[in-house]
Amino acid sequence: MYNEINLDKIDINSKPPTEEQARQYYFMAKCRELVKEFEQKNGRLPSACVATFGCQMNARDSEKLRGVLREIGYVETESEDADFVIYNTCTVRENANLKVYGRLGVLHGYKKKNPGMKIALCGCMMQEPSVVEKLKKSYQFVDLIFGTHNIFKFAELLWTTLVSDRMVIDIWKDTNQIVEDLPLERKYPFKSGVNIMFGCNNFCSYCIVPYVRGRERSREAKDIIREIEGLVADGVMEVMLLGQNVNSYGKNLEEPMTFAQLLQEVEQIEGLERIRFMTSHPKDLSDELIEVMAKSKKICRHLHLPLQSGSSAVLKVMNRRYTKEQYVELAEKIRTAIPDIALTTDIIVGFPGETEEDFQETLDVVRKVRYDSAFTFIYSKRTGTPAASMAEQIPEDVVKDRFDRLLKEVQEISKEMAERFTGTEQMVLVEEPNRQMEGYMTGRLGNNHVVHFPGDVSLTGRILKIRLDECRGFYYMGTLPEI
Ligand code: SAH
Ligand code: SF4
Ligand code: F3S
Repeated sequence: MYNEINLDKIDINSKPPTEEQARQYYFMAKCRELVKEFEQKNGRLPSACVATFGCQMNARDSEKLRGVLREIGYVETESEDADFVIYNTCTVRENANLKVYGRLGVLHGYKKKNPGMKIALCGCMMQEPSVVEKLKKSYQFVDLIFGTHNIFKFAELLWTTLVSDRMVIDIWKDTNQIVEDLPLERKYPFKSGVNIMFGCNNFCSYCIVPYVRGRERSREAKDIIREIEGLVADGVMEVMLLGQNVNSYGKNLEEPMTFAQLLQEVEQIEGLERIRFMTSHPKDLSDELIEVMAKSKKICRHLHLPLQSGSSAVLKVMNRRYTKEQYVELAEKIRTAIPDIALTTDIIVGFPGETEEDFQETLDVVRKVRYDSAFTFIYSKRTGTPAASMAEQIPEDVVKDRFDRLLKEVQEISKEMAERFTGTEQMVLVEEPNRQMEGYMTGRLGNNHVVHFPGDVSLTGRILKIRLDECRGFYYMGTLPEI
């Protein structure tokens, strides 16, 4: 495992190893020499800031970046006025990109004051050639650009950047490589994301993810189990298994296995208390999985099941490969098998060609399934996806009106759904002190709802029984029952 590798023992004057894992440790050792030089010159260690713009998978990648920076000797800071700043970007919707360009302007200001500062960009947005062109032309102050497929090379790329005055760019089109056992710096000591697969093969017609994350690749079950065992030994109680479509896990392994089988293996890990996963594609959700979830003591009573649209016609053009009826039937089957489950979803409004009738179908599914919560998105045109060149893009005012109506419906239902747990006692993983209310802690139920209750920081990372006294829409106020 990575924590057994001692950077001091690496001979940095020899040639770089060719085997990837050893190679990256070699470059970490080399970077560390530069950090020591910095310290001698400036009387302090250099600071580094990692900013994440995307989903849980991006957040997990950022933990890998932080792990490397920690090994090298950087001091982590939340301020972007730092010696090294890296943006781990997202491009799923246009506004994710706009945010990056906006914040780069601010970084440029910091760099003018601190000319030794290095600025790096990585993540999904960098996999788009038009983005890299724009950066090369108009954002010359950026020092390093790399993509999603070669993030494991971060140490090597960082070293190249630190010893060079030019913009370093390394983008791979795709990869089938999975490099294991590099350092990681976890955000929470008691819970962690775990990648079980990378990429996506579904090509939903609106979505850019398959283009920027490449083809679907599953990690070997033994590597996943070993990682989780290591995490548990390190104090982790809850893991979130991550993949764009976890229900198709294992299909491309030498010895194929199903996601439900993987879950059963993870369940056996002693000391692990809670298992979550993200995201489930409805077309691949098996009866086997429902059965395993229903029986499990550790799998959380929460399923995120993106709907995208309630209209079978729109779903077809979206290339989702299920109909409205199949989706509703599936949701009913899940609620029957696991009555206390929380169902959440993603919905897109304003997909090209969406009519008022199509939209009404979406509202109909929302009313039938009664989601515990739903993320609603306005369709965003992504260059290169099939939907971007569809003729009938919907006018902004029509989309906005539908979005508002959907949001209202979704919120009313979520509130009603949350009420059903008021007055009950539930097991809660205590996560952090409440930022707004002094003397209160915040924790999460198995079904992903949040509860605030009086308590102190010593409770962090414990799983406690909490009484849910009052539901305030999106969260509960609770108390520790008298013992
Ligand atoms: N793999 C996951 C989704 C990852 S992207 C899945 O299929 O469930 C997260 C969400 O972003 C999607 O579920 C979708 O609702 C939304 N999304 C993706 N592309 C979008 C686009 N072009 N415009 C608006 N929302 C989009
Ligand atoms: Fe995008 Fe569809 Fe893949 Fe999800 S399953 S990442 S929405 S292409
Ligand atoms: Fe965004 Fe990439 Fe995730 S595009 S949603 S960060 S996979």
